[in-house]
Formats: sequence, structure tokens, C-alpha cells
Amino acid sequence: MTAELIALAERVPKVELHLHIEGSLEPELMFALAQRNGVALPYDSVEAVRAAYQFSNLQEFLDLYYQGMSVLQTEQDFYDLTMAYLQRIHADNVVHTEVMFDPQGHLERGIAFETVFNGIERALRDGERQMEISYRLIMSFLRHLSEESAFDTLREAEPFLGRIDAVGLDSSEKGHPPEKFARVFARCRDLGLRLTAHAGEEGPPDYVWQAIDGIGVDRIDHGNRALEDEALVAELVERKLTLTVCPLSNLKLCVVDDMAQHPILDMLKRGLKATVNSDDPAYFGGYVNDNYRALIAHLPLTHSHLYDLVRNGFDGAWMTNAERQKHIRTLDQAFSVRC
Ligand code: HPA
Ligand code: ZN
Repeated sequence: MTAELIALAERVPKVELHLHIEGSLEPELMFALAQRNGVALPYDSVEAVRAAYQFSNLQEFLDLYYQGMSVLQTEQDFYDLTMAYLQRIHADNVVHTEVMFDPQGHLERGIAFETVFNGIERALRDGERQMEISYRLIMSFLRHLSEESAFDTLREAEPFLGRIDAVGLDSSEKGHPPEKFARVFARCRDLGLRLTAHAGEEGPPDYVWQAIDGIGVDRIDHGNRALEDEALVAELVERKLTLTVCPLSNLKLCVVDDMAQHPILDMLKRGLKATVNSDDPAYFGGYVNDNYRALIAHLPLTHSHLYDLVRNGFDGAWMTNAERQKHIRTLDQAFSVRC
């Protein structure tokens, strides 16, 4: 039964809604780009990099994530990074991805916005043509920086806003509540962008309230700690807000102690629109299918739970309704053929 369910999860069409492109930088590519650009790394092998990926909280991961980014310098580097991610998810039967990028992580190193943007977007376009993976782009603000810095980034992004679909909020959550960014998000909404924010990964339920009431987000990234507040759960259910849950990330960053204790089935039971995503796959030990495999292996996940998780992804994606209906028909067909 478990093997059957895993095989089904692997072969059905899926979306990814929570992915930091800089977090898909595999150690092999990190070394290749370091060499290409003459950047020194504090590791002497790919194995040493992987061995360093032991985190006890979000900040320990972020320190290595920002260090890893230092090898990304040219447009071609961002292209290669993004193309490698697309090839990897194509193998997982992901048909649509909504990719986050962190411009401030590059601007502060002297890399121009257009270098980052053009490299990522060119790969996404090629991926759409070659592999039929549709996409949306989410520009994320770093919450450990000021709101003024987020406004500066928005100004840098101005010439590209017609090709950016949404904005997000990531990096160190504790001590940096969504409210800190209320004005810049209001401006983004006026510009016609969709809004999402990381909330309730390490931060309290109040940060999720701020994200939905103070900012008016269209989705919540993570949202685990919303479960601590009954009224908040009711509100998220009422608004049908998608939660972009990241099981392997949660395990690696000690948001959960054990995959067997992951709350994703509890989320479904309580009516929340939970989805399965990889977050930073190169750092957390897996891409979308690895996340499904881990859930199926450790939780009493049924055929119907699997359908709901995959289907919630399509329902929460910022794709057109015509695209959504087309994918859901294929999904329903795959689920109706019992193996
Ligand atoms: N949480 C917060 N910020 C991030 C993450 C994450 O998992 N990945 C990259 N930036
Ligand atoms: Zn994230």
C-alpha cells in the first residue's frame, strides 16, 4: 500500500508553491560556480558542504544559505541554477512552479537586479518551452532588513514588475513581524501584485494574524504554528487560504522533531488547504517527490489525503482557471485508475 501510494505520488502532475531558487543550489553546482568565478568557499569538498547542513533552527540555516549565494555572480550563474532546478522537478512530474527569489541577498553583494532577474527568467522561459513547466515569479523581501530597504528593492524592480507576479516575505522570522512591512505590501497590492508571507514557521500565531489581517496576504508560507490558535484556524479555513507546507524543511529546521509527528494530516482534518513543497531542496534533503515520500513513509496517509494535498496545490496556484482545469482533469484521471 505504501509503495503503491508513493508510486502514485511520484507519477501524478503536481505544483510547487514554496521554493527559494537560491535554496536549490546543490553543493556540486556551488563548487563549479565558485571555480568559474574565483570565489573561495570555506569547504574543501562537496561532502564537507553536505556534512555542514545540520541545523537546529532557521537562523543556522540562513547563515549558510547567504554564504552559499556568494558564488552566484553572473546572469549565466542564475540561469544555470534555475535550469538545474527545472530539470530536477521535471523528473518529479511537477508541471507548474512558483519560484521565489531574494534580490536583496544579491543587491547587497553588488549584483545588479537585472543580472539576477534576467538569468532566472530566461531559464524559466526555456523550461516552459522545453519541458512544459509553467511558472510564476515571486520577489521576496528579507525581513531582517528594514522596510526602507524593501521599498528600495521595489524601486529597483520597477522596470520588471510586468514580469513579476507576487511578492513574499522571508528570512529570520522571530523579531520581524509582518506588520513591519505593512506599507510596502500595501504599495505592492496597489501595483497589482499578489502577496504572500512566511508566517508561523518559528514565529507565533500572532504573526499569521498580522499576515492575514494587517497585510492581507493571498497565501501563507508554512503556517505551522497557526494550529496553536483555534480562532486563527477557523479564519484560515473560512478564507480558504492556502498554506505552503514544507515537511523536510520542517524536519531539518527542528520545526517538528520527527516526521511521524508532522501536523499536515491534522491540518487537512481541520479543513486547512495544506500543500506539499520543498522550500530549499539542496539544503533540506529533497525535492517535491522526496517530501511526498517522507510523508507517506511516516504518516498514515491515505489515497484521499494524497489527492487533497496535490489538488490543494493546483487550487492555490496563481495560474489561470483554464490551466487549472486542464491539470485537474489529468490529475483526476490518474487518481481514478487504481493500480
Ligand atoms: N524560511 C525563511 N526564510 C527563508 C527560508 C525559510 O525556510 N528559506 C530561504 N529563506
Ligand atoms: Zn521558505
